[in-house]
Amino acid sequence: MNVRSVVLRWIPSVLTLLLLAGCNFNARQSYLDPKGIIAERQFDLFMVTVWVTAGIFVAVGGALAWTIWRYRERRGQEGDAIPSQSHGNPVVEIGLIVVSVGLLVVIAVPTLREIWFTHDMPKDDEVSVLASWYEGETATGAEEEVLTIKATGWQWWFAFEYPQLGIVTGNEFAIPAGKTVRVELRGGDVIHSFWVPKIAGKVDMIPGRNNWMWIRTDEPGYYYGQCAEFCGEAHAYMQFRVQVLPEEEFEQWVAERQRPPSPPAGEDWDEFIQLALNEPQSLPDKPAVLGAKLFFGKGACLQCHAIDGTIAQGLAGPNLTYVGDNGSIAAGWMEHAGMDGKIDPEQQYENLYEWIRRSEEIKPGNKMYDVPGGLKDVDLTDEDVGHLAAFLMTLKSEDDEPRELALFR
Ligand code: CUA
Repeated sequence: MNVRSVVLRWIPSVLTLLLLAGCNFNARQSYLDPKGIIAERQFDLFMVTVWVTAGIFVAVGGALAWTIWRYRERRGQEGDAIPSQSHGNPVVEIGLIVVSVGLLVVIAVPTLREIWFTHDMPKDDEVSVLASWYEGETATGAEEEVLTIKATGWQWWFAFEYPQLGIVTGNEFAIPAGKTVRVELRGGDVIHSFWVPKIAGKVDMIPGRNNWMWIRTDEPGYYYGQCAEFCGEAHAYMQFRVQVLPEEEFEQWVAERQRPPSPPAGEDWDEFIQLALNEPQSLPDKPAVLGAKLFFGKGACLQCHAIDGTIAQGLAGPNLTYVGDNGSIAAGWMEHAGMDGKIDPEQQYENLYEWIRRSEEIKPGNKMYDVPGGLKDVDLTDEDVGHLAAFLMTLKSEDDEPRELALFR
């Protein structure tokens, strides 16, 4: 055997080892590090299958290896001698059928149990019903239900709506730790799939079909989600985040998100928009103010985006009311908050700037750039983009750090 064929023979093994070395079981989108009750049970079920199939692998591979060794060509034997052949051993044949059926049963019983478990929301359990833990205001009659989030997949972002609490967010949402949450899943345009690997397995989001799932996790923190169904050009860039908060912090989060942010100047949004459109010279010459004027004016952002409490009510893109509180932009693709949820404002500004300036390079095919009247048709200077970024950063809950962003031009 020459050197070349030895090298060629080893290349696949070395490549496989290198690939495996890249595996990280605790990566943030790893289902091998389950944190929610459903993900944990699905992981256990997965391990049952792994052990059963590992056993089959050892048995079949062992039998094959033993046969190869036992009936190898021996010295002095003729090259084409065939060992004595036999057919039909009832004990072996029936034994294999019985063992196969037995193994299928070993897999089927826990599989069916988990299917029923995931389809049976623990409604009566006292930690589940909204009224048993949530103190704030909810829609009439909704207290006796489980907290519900309507998640809609769009090309290529996620809309999240809390009908009982009157909150809409884009690409990031929060749930209380230790409580059951019902997630209703819809596809807005094509089929998407909702997947937070550490919390629960994927469920499809299909236009015209009402899917749902329930989730629960006891561990507060940031969880990373991903669209798991090919849905077009920017599918791989379609991510989202779930913030799991201790109960009290969740109530605070809700209270903050029920108070839309105030405008960067003036008493209220109506007054600000009136002035911005009719008497712009009367407004202070600050980046956020200039950015807001662009948002409602030349930038035409309000055609597709909503800011609660203002005339911006567009539904084609993510609701931006609290975009300044989000730890990421571009549907989770550009991040400015770490796993502790702390936002780095400089990174946030840079991400917003880059996202508006070069969205077609960052996320090819994205509709903010590509639709008629989208950013490809709007003539924004670099300065305009900076002002828009500064304005978007002010769209956040008031209880956070001071909203005046002196740091940025
Ligand atoms: Cu949405 Cu893939």
